[in-house]
Amino acid sequence: MERDEILDPSLEDDEEGSLRPLSFDEYVGQSDLKQNLRVFVGAAKMRNESLDHVLLYGPPGLGKTTMSMIIANEMHSHIRVTTGPSIERTGDLVALLSSLEPGDVLFIDEIHRLPKVVEEVLYPAMEDFCVDVVIGKDAATRSVRIDLPPFTLIGATTRAGDLSAPLRDRFGIISKLEYYSIEELTQIISRTSRVYHFEMDEDAKVELAKRSRGTPRIANRLFRRVRDFAQFNGDDHITKARTSEALDRLKIDDLGLDDVDQKYIMGIIERFKGGPVGLESLAASIGEEPQTLEDVYEPYLLQVGLIKRTPRGRVVTELGYAHFHIPFMQQLL
Ligand SMILES: Nc1ncnc2c1ncn2[C@@H]1O[C@H](COP(=O)(O)OP(=O)(O)OP(=O)(O)O)[C@@H](O)[C@H]1O
Ligand SMILES: [Mg+2]
Repeated sequence: MERDEILDPSLEDDEEGSLRPLSFDEYVGQSDLKQNLRVFVGAAKMRNESLDHVLLYGPPGLGKTTMSMIIANEMHSHIRVTTGPSIERTGDLVALLSSLEPGDVLFIDEIHRLPKVVEEVLYPAMEDFCVDVVIGKDAATRSVRIDLPPFTLIGATTRAGDLSAPLRDRFGIISKLEYYSIEELTQIISRTSRVYHFEMDEDAKVELAKRSRGTPRIANRLFRRVRDFAQFNGDDHITKARTSEALDRLKIDDLGLDDVDQKYIMGIIERFKGGPVGLESLAASIGEEPQTLEDVYEPYLLQVGLIKRTPRGRVVTELGYAHFHIPFMQQLL
C-alpha cells in the first residue's frame, strides 16, 4: 500500500469485511442500480474499455463501498482505495493517478471532502485521462502534460449536495442508494446468519429487519449483539423473543429508532413545541453535531415520515407524535 492510500477502516474490519458480498448476485436490493450497472459493466467489457466514472451517494451503511468493490470485481479490475480528506496536496493525487494501470478502478470515499485544488486535478484526469503538472522554479517553470491510462473513478459520498457542479458533471453514472425494505433486510440477515454459522428463526429475522432502520450495516451490527444475548443465555439459535429482549435492552424501539433519533424527536416536541426549529438550534439543544443529524439521522426520519423539513425548519409530523404516544396538536402557523 502506498503512503497516500488510506484504507477505509471498515474494509480492514474483519467483521464487516467477511460479510461484504462480492458479486451483483450476492448483493441484495438496490435493484435499479444493480440492473443498470450490470448493463454498463457488461457493455464496457464487450468493448474492452474501462467503465465510465461512477458516483454513489446516500446515507451511511447502505452499501456504497460494497458496491464499489463489486463493480471492480465484476470488471475484473484492481481497485485502489482512498478517501477525499487523505489527499491533501495535488502532488498526492498526481502520484496516485500516474501509478494506475489500464482499467484500474480508483475508489475515493467521502469524495465531497477533497480539497478544491486537488479536485481540479481530477477534471482533466476524468475527462481526457491526463493531468497537467507544473515543474521547475521561478522563471523556468513550465507545465507538462502527463497521459494517464484509462481508469474508472468511483466516488462515494453521504453529501452529494456538497459536490461542486463541475465534478458531479464528469461522472457518467450517478446513483442514489435507497433504504432497504424489510424483505431485503431479512435476506441480508439470513446471509449474515449463514456466514456466522449461527441460526436464527424466520420471525426473529423479520423482527430484526424491522428494527434496523432500513440499513444493512445496522442489521449486521444488531445481529451480532442479539447473538451475544443468545449465546450468553446458552441458546443454540436466535429466537424472536430473544431478539426483542436484546433490542429492547439496547433501547432500539420498534421502528428501529435509537436513542439519538428519540432525542431528536422528543427534543423538537418538548423544547420547540413540535417545531418548526432550525437544525442548528435543535442540534445545540440535544448536544449533537448538526452535520451528523443531517447526514445520519434525518434521512431515515424523513423517509418514515416522522419529521418534515419546511422552509422555517424541522417539524414533527402527526405520525411522529403518534409514535411516541403524545397527542398531536396542530401548531399555529
Ligand atoms: N446490498 C447489500 N447486501 C448485503 N450486504 C450489504 C449490502 N449493502 C451493505 N451490506 C453490508 O453492510 C455493510 C456496510 O456497507 P458499506 O460499508 O458498503 O456501506 P457504505 O454505504 O459504504 O457506508 P458509509 O457511507 O458509512 O461508507 C457491509 O459490510 C455489508 O456487509
Ligand atoms: Mg463506505
